[in-house]
Amino acid sequence: MNEKQRLETSQVQAKDSSDKKSDKDYSKYFETVYIPPSLKEAKKRGKEEVKYHSDFGIPEELLSMGNGRKFYIRTYGCQMNEHDTEVMAGIFIQLGYEPTDNRDEADVILLNTCAIRENAEDKVFGELGHLKPLKMEKPDLLIGVCGCMSQEESVVNRILQKHHFVDMIFGTHNIHRLPQILNEAYMSKEMVVEVWSKEGDVIENLPKVRKGSIKGWVNIMYGCDKFCTYCIVPYTRGKERSRRPEDIIREVRHLASLGYQEITLLGQNVNAYGKDFEDLTYGLGDLMDELRKIDIPRIRFTTSHPRDFDDRLIEVLGKGGNLLDHIHLPVQSGSSEILKLMARKYSREHYLELVGKIKEAMPNASLTTDIIVGFPNETDEQFEDTLSLYREVEFDSAYTFIYSPREGTPAAKMEDNIPMEVKKERLQRLNSLVNEISAKKLKEYEGKVVEVLVEGESKNNPEVLAGYTEKSKLVNFKGPKSSIGKIVKVKVIKAKTWTLDGEMVEETVEVN
Ligand code: SAH
Ligand code: SF4
Ligand code: F3S
Repeated sequence: MNEKQRLETSQVQAKDSSDKKSDKDYSKYFETVYIPPSLKEAKKRGKEEVKYHSDFGIPEELLSMGNGRKFYIRTYGCQMNEHDTEVMAGIFIQLGYEPTDNRDEADVILLNTCAIRENAEDKVFGELGHLKPLKMEKPDLLIGVCGCMSQEESVVNRILQKHHFVDMIFGTHNIHRLPQILNEAYMSKEMVVEVWSKEGDVIENLPKVRKGSIKGWVNIMYGCDKFCTYCIVPYTRGKERSRRPEDIIREVRHLASLGYQEITLLGQNVNAYGKDFEDLTYGLGDLMDELRKIDIPRIRFTTSHPRDFDDRLIEVLGKGGNLLDHIHLPVQSGSSEILKLMARKYSREHYLELVGKIKEAMPNASLTTDIIVGFPNETDEQFEDTLSLYREVEFDSAYTFIYSPREGTPAAKMEDNIPMEVKKERLQRLNSLVNEISAKKLKEYEGKVVEVLVEGESKNNPEVLAGYTEKSKLVNFKGPKSSIGKIVKVKVIKAKTWTLDGEMVEETVEVN
């Protein structure tokens, strides 16, 4: 990314809200070139080296921008977005804003959006519809759209044309520019659009306000270069770039020192961690081998791509300790032909072989997965292959989806030729199998003692505490409130459809 692109921002004559003029000249932060997001640009993977920036700072004159003002962020999509929201909340707080859970009293509302399937986008457009009357009532309210949808040309165009009341659109690579974007939105009568299509950098010292103090997310890499043919993520999140190990280790140590009990390492394809380092041969296995020495009870990672899941990682995970043996390993389909059309770059046999290796190194490992049904040309037999693979692996559970064509992806050029009734029927059949096996697996817990990280009171009953096992099973049990934030032993009394009921047998568990 060159310097000119870095400063790209745009001002489009589209907004008709109240006049907000200022005598201060902030133009030094902006150029008035309008370059919309481009999926074609986003697809290009530059050879230029990843640059690491640790000089994030807020210009002094913007530091009191939020005084007396409140912000509200609504987050859609995956953990990556949840974590980006924590970063944006950190920036808002540094600017002097206060958080609010009530959007009616907010002075700034951000929708941090997800583009993964059409229904994810529909939800956001629905919410924008609800926000319009609020904006009419409160013309000084700022409304922003950020996250993965803002990286899509068609979405930006639709907002420019039909949702004039939106004040700002900014992309996933522009989060650190939030202070300048907000400031421009206050100063300008026009919609502020700042979306970089390509980004190869890692920005290190961004502030964060984490949602909880028990479990924390730590990004280990950004972007995705896998280009599965159905998926929009490589376009919305840019090329794969890894954080330096020392920065990750420092962050995990810091969270451990604050008393966090569980860390989830995040990336769209964490198994490609380190492949972009030019000066270092270092992968996810090496990183996990260092992290396991940190005094924090639980470390997980998500999401794994079977293709890059190597023997070194399996060997390190086999050492156990605080490295949890719950692995989310999206398979997408059980048919090698469909996997080929999806460009997943592994076959059914390769996937099963990998599962075999994982189970050998971690005999108690639990596996979960993602599956898409109704991919173009998927025959009944190919769908049956998915069911048979599911039975063979005996996943603990799965996220299952109906294929949704995403504009700009290779699969969107294939004919979406499976009728909706067939897609729905396949989803239903798959879900019954998922439920059947999940129920069977949960039943096996009855009478056993599990370790539960207690997160708080159960949503449905404040008398009951709730927490998750190492394998991400939700357990409800009666126990003292003092155990919140700790890992306790719970004897499972009864398996329900999705959760376990138990009773506490011991307060604290020493790990390692
Ligand atoms: N990086 C992760 C997946 C992120 S998206 C991985 O590769 O595993 C989460 C899940 O959404 C995917 O695993 C896939 O099952 C599903 N998904 C992605 N694109 C989709 C599409 N166009 N239609 C339906 N489901 C999709
Ligand atoms: Fe999408 Fe595939 Fe990348 Fe996952 S690995 S984010 S499914 S392109
Ligand atoms: Fe959605 Fe973007 Fe995550 S498309 S799933 S929010 S990376």
